[in-house]
Amino acid sequence: MPLFRFRYMAHAKSGSDRMEKIVSLCKRRGFVFQSSEIYGGLNGCWDYGPLGTELKRNLKDFWWRRMVRERDDVVGMDGSILMNRQVWVASGHENTFTDPMVDCRNCKSRLRADQLPEKNGRKQCPVCGSFDLTEPRAFNLMFKTYVGATEDESAITYLRPETAQAIFVQFRNILEVSRKKLPFGIAQIGKAFRNEINPRNFTFRSREFEQMELEYFCRPENGLELLEYWLQERLRFYRDIGLSSESLHVHKIPPEECAHYSKGTYDIEFEFPFGIQELEGVAYRTDYDLNQHQKASGKPLDYFDEESKQHFIPHVVEPSAGVDRTALALISAAYDEEVVTDEKGKSETRTVLRFHPRMAPIKCGVFPLLKNNELLVRQAREIVDQLRGEMMVFYDETGAIGRRYRRQDEAGTPFGVTVDFDTIGENGPALRDTVTVRHRDSMEQERIAIKELTAFLGERIR
Ligand code: GAP
Repeated sequence: MPLFRFRYMAHAKSGSDRMEKIVSLCKRRGFVFQSSEIYGGLNGCWDYGPLGTELKRNLKDFWWRRMVRERDDVVGMDGSILMNRQVWVASGHENTFTDPMVDCRNCKSRLRADQLPEKNGRKQCPVCGSFDLTEPRAFNLMFKTYVGATEDESAITYLRPETAQAIFVQFRNILEVSRKKLPFGIAQIGKAFRNEINPRNFTFRSREFEQMELEYFCRPENGLELLEYWLQERLRFYRDIGLSSESLHVHKIPPEECAHYSKGTYDIEFEFPFGIQELEGVAYRTDYDLNQHQKASGKPLDYFDEESKQHFIPHVVEPSAGVDRTALALISAAYDEEVVTDEKGKSETRTVLRFHPRMAPIKCGVFPLLKNNELLVRQAREIVDQLRGEMMVFYDETGAIGRRYRRQDEAGTPFGVTVDFDTIGENGPALRDTVTVRHRDSMEQERIAIKELTAFLGERIR
C-alpha cells in the first residue's frame, strides 16, 4: 500500500506535452488507432480499438438514456447516410456548406484561410512559413458520390455532413406515428462526413465522425426559453459524465456571427490540452429547415394545433454534440499521472485515467491472487460470470497483483476485485466468500461479500 502520493502532472506541463502523452496512451492501450495504419493511414480518419469502442458506447448509451428514454417528449430515429441530393440543395448545404481555402504557392499545402497564423499583419503558411498564399476561395466540405452504376450529374449525392437533415425530412412521418404534441423532439446518433481542409488535434476535427443530435420542435413563442432550457440540460449532461464545471465554458455566439436563420446560438466549450474548443452547439434554428424542405418538396411539413385550429411550421431548438469530441474530452479530463511511494520508499509513476465509473470502458477487473491455485482461479471465474451480465468485466491472472492493478489504472477501470486466500476460507471462516474491492482513484481497498458484489458495483456505475 503506498504511503505517499504526489500529483505532479495534471495541469503542470504544457498542453502539447500532455496531448502527446494522451495520443500515445490511446494507441498503446487500444483506445484509438490511425485508420488504415498499415498503409500509412488516411488523414482525418480514425479507428477505435476495444477500450475506445466501449467508451464511445457508454457515452452514446448515456446520451440516449438522458435524451430519449428518460423523457416523454422525445423519440428516436436512425436515418440513412445517403439521401436524395435535393435534401442538400434545399438545406443550403450544396451551395453554402463551405470553408475558405488558400494554397501555399511555396510548399503547395492547402490551408483553411480563417485558421492561418499572422506575422506583422500578414497571413503565413503554418507548414513552411511562406507568405506567398493564393486568394481564399470557397471549398465545399461535403463528400460527393454517385448512386448507382452511372457516374453522371443525375446520380450525384453526398455523404451526409450532419445527421439533422434526416430528422427534418422525416418530421411528418414521425409526428404521425408518434402522435406527439408540441413541444417534442426527435433524436438521432449517427455518422457524419466532412472533407475538412485541415483535420487536426487528433480526433477533434476528423473527416468521418459521429454526431448526437436532437431537434426539439416547439411553438415560435417558446423558442428562446427552450434554447436556455436545453443549454442547461446539456451542461448537466456533461457534468454527469464527469467533466468538471470549471472545464466547461459557454460561448454565446454574437448575433452577427450566427447563421442568418438563427435567433440564438451557444457553443458549449471544453478545455482541451490544445485550448478551449467547441464540444457542442445549441442553436435556435427557427422554422428555417422545415420551411426550406416544405418549399422544395412541395409536401406539407406543418403542424395542426387542435386548440387554435391553426396550421403552422414549428420552430426548432437543436443541441448538436460530437461523439468523438466528447470521447476525447473524457480522455483528456481523465488523464492523470502521480508518483506513488510504497512503505519501502520505492517510488513509481502511476498513469491513471480517472473516468467517471459511468463512462469507464471496463467497470471491474477480476484477479485471482495466484494463477496456479485452482480454487482461487475457479472462484475468480465464477465472479466474472456473476458480473458479466451487468457490466463490462476483465479477467487477468498474469503478473504480480500490483502490475495488474496498474494496467487497469491506465485503462481507467474504477474497481478491481481480488480473490485471495481469505476468500476461499484458508485463513478461517470469518472472511470466507468475501473479496477485496480496490478503488482506482484512492487505491483504498475494502472487503465485500461476493453475493453483494453485483449490487455494490451496479449502483456505482449507473
Ligand atoms: N446540425 C448542426 C451541426 O452539425 P456543427 O456545429 O457543425 O452543427 C455539431 O456540428 C457538432 O458535431 C460539433 O459541435 C462537434 O462536436 C461535431 N463535429 C462537427 N464537425 C466535426 C469534425 N470535423 N470532427 C469531429 N466532430 C465534429
